[in-house]
Amino acid sequence: MNDLRTVNDLTARPVGTMPDAQTVTHVHHWTERLFSFRVTRPKSLRFRSGEFVMIGLPDERGKPILRAYSIASPSWDEELEFYSIKVPDGPLTSRLQHIRPGDQIILRPKPVGTLVLDALLPGRRIWFLATGTGIAPFASLMRDPETYEKFDQVIMMHTCREVAELEYGRQLVESLPEDPLIGEFVGGKLKYYPTTTREESVRMGRITDNLTSGKVFADLGLAPMDPAGDRAMVCGSLAFNLDVKKVLEGFGLREGANSEPREYVVEKAFVGDGI
Ligand code: FAD
Ligand code: A2P
Repeated sequence: MNDLRTVNDLTARPVGTMPDAQTVTHVHHWTERLFSFRVTRPKSLRFRSGEFVMIGLPDERGKPILRAYSIASPSWDEELEFYSIKVPDGPLTSRLQHIRPGDQIILRPKPVGTLVLDALLPGRRIWFLATGTGIAPFASLMRDPETYEKFDQVIMMHTCREVAELEYGRQLVESLPEDPLIGEFVGGKLKYYPTTTREESVRMGRITDNLTSGKVFADLGLAPMDPAGDRAMVCGSLAFNLDVKKVLEGFGLREGANSEPREYVVEKAFVGDGI
Protein backbone atom coordinates (compact mmCIF):
# COMPACT_ATOMS: atom_id res chain seq x y z
CA MET A 1 0.00 0.00 0.00
CA ASN A 2 3.06 2.27 0.20
CA ASP A 3 2.80 2.77 -3.56
CA LEU A 4 -0.49 4.57 -3.07
CA ARG A 5 1.44 7.48 -1.63
CA THR A 6 3.43 8.14 -4.80
CA VAL A 7 0.36 9.44 -6.54
CA ASN A 8 -1.87 10.32 -3.67
CA ASP A 9 0.67 12.46 -1.82
CA LEU A 10 0.19 14.88 -4.71
CA THR A 11 -3.45 15.18 -3.78
CA ALA A 12 -5.50 16.36 -0.85
CA ARG A 13 -7.99 13.52 -1.20
CA PRO A 14 -6.92 9.88 -1.71
CA VAL A 15 -8.44 8.34 -4.83
CA GLY A 16 -9.63 5.39 -2.78
CA THR A 17 -12.13 7.60 -1.00
CA MET A 18 -13.60 8.78 -4.33
CA PRO A 19 -16.40 6.99 -6.16
CA ASP A 20 -15.32 4.92 -9.18
CA ALA A 21 -11.80 4.16 -7.84
CA GLN A 22 -9.98 1.24 -9.54
CA THR A 23 -6.65 -0.32 -8.57
CA VAL A 24 -3.64 -0.36 -10.92
CA THR A 25 -2.37 -3.93 -11.42
CA HIS A 26 0.40 -3.51 -14.02
CA VAL A 27 2.40 -0.70 -15.66
CA HIS A 28 4.82 -0.92 -18.62
CA HIS A 29 6.80 2.01 -20.02
CA TRP A 30 7.45 1.56 -23.75
CA THR A 31 9.28 4.83 -24.46
CA GLU A 32 9.80 8.17 -22.73
CA ARG A 33 6.46 9.26 -24.22
CA LEU A 34 4.37 6.06 -24.09
CA PHE A 35 3.20 3.63 -21.42
CA SER A 36 0.46 1.07 -20.91
CA PHE A 37 -1.25 0.00 -17.72
CA ARG A 38 -3.93 -2.33 -16.44
CA VAL A 39 -6.51 -1.71 -13.74
CA THR A 40 -9.20 -3.71 -12.01
CA ARG A 41 -12.53 -3.80 -13.88
CA PRO A 42 -15.74 -2.70 -12.19
CA LYS A 43 -18.01 -5.76 -12.06
CA SER A 44 -20.88 -3.82 -13.59
CA LEU A 45 -18.85 -2.46 -16.56
CA ARG A 46 -20.01 -3.83 -19.91
CA PHE A 47 -18.55 -2.31 -23.06
CA ARG A 48 -18.18 -2.98 -26.77
CA SER A 49 -14.60 -3.43 -28.02
CA GLY A 50 -13.42 -0.09 -29.46
CA GLU A 51 -15.27 2.14 -26.99
CA PHE A 52 -13.72 4.70 -24.64
CA VAL A 53 -14.30 5.76 -21.02
CA MET A 54 -13.27 8.71 -18.87
CA ILE A 55 -10.38 8.02 -16.50
CA GLY A 56 -8.38 10.31 -14.24
CA LEU A 57 -6.78 11.33 -10.99
CA PRO A 58 -7.69 14.02 -8.48
CA ASP A 59 -5.91 17.42 -8.60
CA GLU A 60 -4.36 19.16 -5.57
CA ARG A 61 -7.82 20.14 -4.32
CA GLY A 62 -9.25 16.67 -4.79
CA LYS A 63 -11.20 17.63 -7.92
CA PRO A 64 -11.05 14.89 -10.58
CA ILE A 65 -9.01 15.56 -13.75
CA LEU A 66 -10.73 13.28 -16.25
CA ARG A 67 -9.77 12.48 -19.84
CA ALA A 68 -11.18 10.19 -22.55
CA TYR A 69 -9.28 6.90 -22.96
CA SER A 70 -9.94 4.07 -25.36
CA ILE A 71 -10.16 0.72 -23.62
CA ALA A 72 -7.31 -1.30 -25.15
CA SER A 73 -8.35 -4.64 -23.66
CA PRO A 74 -11.10 -6.78 -25.17
CA SER A 75 -14.57 -6.93 -23.66
CA TRP A 76 -14.00 -10.47 -22.30
CA ASP A 77 -10.90 -9.50 -20.25
CA GLU A 78 -11.18 -9.52 -16.42
CA GLU A 79 -9.09 -6.34 -16.21
CA LEU A 80 -8.99 -3.12 -18.25
CA GLU A 81 -5.91 -2.07 -20.23
CA PHE A 82 -5.03 1.44 -21.41
CA TYR A 83 -2.24 2.73 -23.67
CA SER A 84 -1.19 6.26 -22.90
CA ILE A 85 0.84 9.21 -24.06
CA LYS A 86 2.92 11.17 -21.51
CA VAL A 87 2.42 14.88 -22.13
CA PRO A 88 5.13 16.60 -20.01
CA ASP A 89 2.86 19.45 -18.87
CA GLY A 90 -0.43 17.64 -19.43
CA PRO A 91 -2.85 18.12 -16.54
CA LEU A 92 -3.57 14.38 -16.34
CA THR A 93 -0.64 12.53 -17.89
CA SER A 94 2.08 14.52 -16.08
CA ARG A 95 0.68 12.70 -13.01
CA LEU A 96 -0.69 9.52 -14.55
CA GLN A 97 2.73 8.52 -15.92
CA HIS A 98 3.90 7.97 -12.30
CA ILE A 99 1.23 5.39 -11.34
CA ARG A 100 2.47 2.06 -9.98
CA PRO A 101 0.76 -1.23 -9.13
CA GLY A 102 -1.39 -0.75 -6.03
CA ASP A 103 -2.20 2.91 -6.84
CA GLN A 104 -5.73 3.88 -7.66
CA ILE A 105 -7.26 5.84 -10.52
CA ILE A 106 -10.75 7.15 -11.17
CA LEU A 107 -12.76 5.37 -13.88
CA ARG A 108 -16.22 6.51 -14.90
CA PRO A 109 -17.94 3.32 -16.10
CA LYS A 110 -19.88 4.85 -19.01
CA PRO A 111 -18.37 3.49 -22.25
CA VAL A 112 -19.15 5.27 -25.54
CA GLY A 113 -17.67 5.64 -29.01
CA THR A 114 -18.01 5.18 -32.75
CA LEU A 115 -15.29 2.57 -33.36
CA VAL A 116 -17.62 -0.38 -32.87
CA LEU A 117 -18.36 -3.24 -35.24
CA ASP A 118 -22.09 -2.46 -35.04
CA ALA A 119 -21.47 0.85 -36.86
CA LEU A 120 -20.29 -0.98 -40.01
CA LEU A 121 -22.23 -2.86 -42.66
CA PRO A 122 -21.23 -6.52 -43.12
CA GLY A 123 -18.10 -6.95 -45.27
CA ARG A 124 -15.20 -9.28 -46.10
CA ARG A 125 -12.16 -7.23 -45.00
CA ILE A 126 -11.73 -4.73 -42.22
CA TRP A 127 -8.94 -2.13 -42.13
CA PHE A 128 -7.78 -0.68 -38.81
CA LEU A 129 -5.93 2.58 -39.58
CA ALA A 130 -4.07 4.21 -36.67
CA THR A 131 -1.28 6.59 -35.79
CA GLY A 132 0.37 6.84 -32.35
CA THR A 133 -1.88 5.97 -29.41
CA GLY A 134 -4.72 5.63 -31.92
CA ILE A 135 -3.91 1.92 -31.94
CA ALA A 136 -5.56 1.58 -28.49
CA PRO A 137 -9.15 0.84 -29.65
CA PHE A 138 -7.76 -1.67 -32.17
CA ALA A 139 -5.77 -3.41 -29.43
CA SER A 140 -9.24 -4.19 -28.09
CA LEU A 141 -10.86 -5.05 -31.42
CA MET A 142 -7.93 -7.26 -32.54
CA ARG A 143 -8.52 -9.36 -29.40
CA ASP A 144 -12.29 -9.69 -29.90
CA PRO A 145 -13.47 -12.97 -31.47
CA GLU A 146 -16.39 -11.09 -33.07
CA THR A 147 -13.94 -9.23 -35.34
CA TYR A 148 -12.82 -12.53 -36.87
CA GLU A 149 -16.33 -13.95 -36.96
CA LYS A 150 -17.51 -10.95 -38.99
CA PHE A 151 -14.53 -10.56 -41.34
CA ASP A 152 -12.33 -12.92 -43.40
CA GLN A 153 -9.35 -10.55 -43.23
CA VAL A 154 -8.27 -7.96 -40.68
CA ILE A 155 -5.54 -5.51 -41.69
CA MET A 156 -3.85 -3.44 -38.98
CA MET A 157 -1.98 -0.43 -40.39
CA HIS A 158 -0.13 1.49 -37.64
CA THR A 159 2.19 4.41 -38.31
CA CYS A 160 4.48 6.29 -35.95
CA ARG A 161 7.44 8.56 -36.38
CA GLU A 162 9.91 6.09 -34.82
CA VAL A 163 10.34 2.31 -34.54
CA ALA A 164 10.17 2.22 -30.71
CA GLU A 165 6.71 3.80 -30.84
CA LEU A 166 5.40 0.75 -32.72
CA GLU A 167 6.53 -1.73 -30.08
CA TYR A 168 3.33 -1.97 -28.00
CA GLY A 169 1.33 -2.84 -31.11
CA ARG A 170 3.99 -5.13 -32.51
CA GLN A 171 4.22 -7.26 -29.36
CA LEU A 172 0.46 -7.44 -29.11
CA VAL A 173 -0.04 -8.52 -32.74
CA GLU A 174 2.79 -11.05 -32.59
CA SER A 175 1.35 -12.64 -29.43
CA LEU A 176 -2.15 -13.14 -30.87
CA PRO A 177 -1.76 -16.31 -33.01
CA GLU A 178 -0.40 -18.17 -29.96
CA ASP A 179 -2.87 -16.69 -27.48
CA PRO A 180 -4.80 -19.52 -25.79
CA LEU A 181 -8.06 -17.55 -25.77
CA ILE A 182 -8.07 -15.69 -29.09
CA GLY A 183 -5.45 -17.54 -31.19
CA GLU A 184 -7.86 -19.94 -32.86
CA PHE A 185 -10.10 -17.08 -34.01
CA VAL A 186 -7.18 -15.04 -35.37
CA GLY A 187 -5.76 -17.94 -37.39
CA GLY A 188 -4.19 -16.45 -40.52
CA LYS A 189 -6.77 -13.67 -40.79
CA LEU A 190 -4.75 -10.83 -39.23
CA LYS A 191 -2.28 -8.91 -41.42
CA TYR A 192 -0.05 -6.31 -39.78
CA TYR A 193 1.43 -3.35 -41.65
CA PRO A 194 3.50 -1.12 -39.33
CA THR A 195 5.37 1.84 -40.82
CA THR A 196 7.57 4.68 -39.62
CA THR A 197 7.83 8.10 -41.18
CA ARG A 198 10.91 9.71 -39.61
CA GLU A 199 13.18 6.82 -38.58
CA GLU A 200 14.50 4.40 -41.19
CA SER A 201 12.78 0.99 -40.93
CA VAL A 202 11.74 -2.02 -43.03
CA ARG A 203 8.45 -0.39 -44.06
CA MET A 204 8.01 3.33 -44.27
CA GLY A 205 5.49 5.99 -45.19
CA ARG A 206 2.25 7.59 -44.11
CA ILE A 207 -0.89 5.44 -44.17
CA THR A 208 -2.52 7.88 -46.60
CA ASP A 209 0.40 7.62 -49.03
CA ASN A 210 0.64 3.82 -48.77
CA LEU A 211 -3.07 3.53 -49.57
CA THR A 212 -3.18 6.01 -52.45
CA SER A 213 0.02 4.71 -54.09
CA GLY A 214 -1.26 1.14 -53.76
CA LYS A 215 1.95 0.11 -51.96
CA VAL A 216 0.17 -1.60 -49.08
CA PHE A 217 -1.98 -3.68 -51.45
CA ALA A 218 1.09 -4.73 -53.45
CA ASP A 219 3.17 -5.51 -50.33
CA LEU A 220 0.42 -7.64 -48.77
CA GLY A 221 -0.80 -9.18 -52.02
CA LEU A 222 -4.30 -7.78 -51.61
CA ALA A 223 -6.83 -6.35 -54.05
CA PRO A 224 -7.37 -2.58 -53.79
CA MET A 225 -10.09 -1.26 -51.51
CA ASP A 226 -13.62 -1.57 -52.79
CA PRO A 227 -16.82 -0.43 -51.07
CA ALA A 228 -18.58 -3.76 -51.68
CA GLY A 229 -16.31 -5.74 -49.36
CA ASP A 230 -14.01 -3.36 -47.49
CA ARG A 231 -14.75 -1.70 -44.15
CA ALA A 232 -12.44 0.63 -42.21
CA MET A 233 -11.99 2.16 -38.77
CA VAL A 234 -9.77 5.21 -38.32
CA CYS A 235 -8.14 6.60 -35.16
CA GLY A 236 -5.46 9.29 -35.10
CA SER A 237 -4.94 13.05 -34.90
CA LEU A 238 -7.58 15.31 -36.43
CA ALA A 239 -5.34 16.04 -39.45
CA PHE A 240 -4.73 12.32 -39.99
CA ASN A 241 -8.41 11.49 -39.68
CA LEU A 242 -9.41 14.17 -42.18
CA ASP A 243 -6.81 13.03 -44.71
CA VAL A 244 -7.69 9.34 -44.35
CA LYS A 245 -11.38 10.13 -44.75
CA LYS A 246 -10.61 11.71 -48.14
CA VAL A 247 -8.66 8.62 -49.19
CA LEU A 248 -11.44 6.25 -48.09
CA GLU A 249 -14.11 8.35 -49.80
CA GLY A 250 -11.90 8.19 -52.92
CA PHE A 251 -12.22 4.39 -52.80
CA GLY A 252 -16.01 4.84 -52.57
CA LEU A 253 -16.43 4.11 -48.83
CA ARG A 254 -18.94 6.24 -46.85
CA GLU A 255 -18.80 7.26 -43.19
CA GLY A 256 -21.16 5.40 -40.87
CA ALA A 257 -22.31 5.70 -37.27
CA ASN A 258 -23.98 3.59 -34.60
CA SER A 259 -27.34 4.87 -35.80
CA GLU A 260 -26.50 4.42 -39.49
CA PRO A 261 -23.95 1.68 -40.28
CA ARG A 262 -21.94 2.21 -43.48
CA GLU A 263 -18.43 1.41 -44.75
CA TYR A 264 -16.12 3.29 -42.34
CA VAL A 265 -16.05 5.03 -38.94
CA VAL A 266 -13.65 7.55 -37.38
CA GLU A 267 -12.64 8.67 -33.89
CA LYS A 268 -10.09 11.19 -32.70
CA ALA A 269 -7.17 9.69 -30.74
CA PHE A 270 -6.87 13.03 -28.90
CA VAL A 271 -8.09 16.59 -29.02
CA GLY A 272 -5.26 18.70 -30.41
CA ASP A 273 -4.08 22.13 -29.22
CA GLY A 274 -6.58 24.82 -30.15
CA ILE A 275 -9.09 22.30 -31.56
P1 FAD B 1 -4.25 17.39 -22.46
O1 FAD B 1 -4.43 18.78 -21.95
O2 FAD B 1 -5.50 16.53 -22.57
O3 FAD B 1 -3.52 17.38 -23.85
C1 FAD B 1 -2.45 18.27 -24.09
C2 FAD B 1 -2.00 18.15 -25.52
O4 FAD B 1 -1.28 16.93 -25.67
C3 FAD B 1 -3.12 18.08 -26.56
O5 FAD B 1 -3.56 19.35 -26.93
C4 FAD B 1 -2.46 17.33 -27.69
O6 FAD B 1 -1.71 18.24 -28.48
C5 FAD B 1 -1.49 16.38 -26.97
N1 FAD B 1 -2.04 15.01 -26.81
C6 FAD B 1 -3.02 14.61 -25.98
N2 FAD B 1 -3.25 13.29 -26.08
C7 FAD B 1 -2.39 12.84 -27.02
C8 FAD B 1 -2.15 11.54 -27.58
N3 FAD B 1 -2.84 10.46 -27.18
N4 FAD B 1 -1.20 11.43 -28.53
C9 FAD B 1 -0.50 12.54 -28.95
N5 FAD B 1 -0.68 13.77 -28.45
C10 FAD B 1 -1.62 13.93 -27.50
N6 FAD B 1 -4.90 9.42 -25.05
C11 FAD B 1 -4.14 8.33 -24.83
O7 FAD B 1 -2.97 8.47 -24.48
N7 FAD B 1 -4.65 7.07 -24.98
C12 FAD B 1 -5.93 6.85 -25.38
O8 FAD B 1 -6.36 5.69 -25.50
C13 FAD B 1 -6.75 7.99 -25.63
N8 FAD B 1 -8.03 7.85 -26.05
C14 FAD B 1 -8.76 8.97 -26.37
C15 FAD B 1 -10.06 8.81 -26.88
C16 FAD B 1 -10.81 9.93 -27.25
C17 FAD B 1 -12.19 9.75 -27.81
C18 FAD B 1 -10.27 11.25 -27.06
C19 FAD B 1 -11.04 12.46 -27.45
C20 FAD B 1 -9.00 11.40 -26.51
C21 FAD B 1 -8.24 10.26 -26.17
N9 FAD B 1 -6.95 10.39 -25.64
C22 FAD B 1 -6.18 9.28 -25.43
C23 FAD B 1 -6.38 11.71 -25.26
C24 FAD B 1 -6.61 11.92 -23.75
O9 FAD B 1 -8.00 12.18 -23.55
C25 FAD B 1 -5.79 13.08 -23.16
O10 FAD B 1 -5.81 14.19 -24.01
C26 FAD B 1 -4.34 12.67 -22.91
O11 FAD B 1 -4.32 11.63 -21.94
C27 FAD B 1 -3.49 13.82 -22.37
O12 FAD B 1 -4.09 14.33 -21.21
P2 FAD B 1 -3.42 15.54 -20.44
O13 FAD B 1 -4.43 16.06 -19.44
O14 FAD B 1 -2.10 15.14 -19.89
O15 FAD B 1 -3.18 16.65 -21.55
P1 A2P C 1 4.89 12.40 -40.41
O1 A2P C 1 6.11 12.03 -39.61
O2 A2P C 1 5.09 12.35 -41.90
O3 A2P C 1 4.26 13.69 -39.96
P2 A2P C 1 2.33 12.75 -34.80
O4 A2P C 1 3.39 12.21 -33.89
O5 A2P C 1 2.63 14.08 -35.41
O6 A2P C 1 0.94 12.66 -34.20
O7 A2P C 1 2.29 11.75 -36.05
C1 A2P C 1 2.16 10.34 -35.87
C2 A2P C 1 2.30 9.69 -37.23
O8 A2P C 1 1.20 10.09 -38.06
C3 A2P C 1 3.56 10.14 -37.95
O9 A2P C 1 4.12 9.00 -38.57
C4 A2P C 1 3.04 11.15 -38.95
O10 A2P C 1 3.80 11.23 -40.15
C5 A2P C 1 1.67 10.61 -39.27
N1 A2P C 1 0.77 11.68 -39.71
C6 A2P C 1 0.60 12.88 -39.12
N2 A2P C 1 -0.31 13.62 -39.76
C7 A2P C 1 -0.74 12.88 -40.80
C8 A2P C 1 -1.67 13.10 -41.87
N3 A2P C 1 -2.35 14.24 -41.96
N4 A2P C 1 -1.84 12.11 -42.76
C9 A2P C 1 -1.16 10.95 -42.68
N5 A2P C 1 -0.26 10.69 -41.69
C10 A2P C 1 -0.04 11.62 -40.77
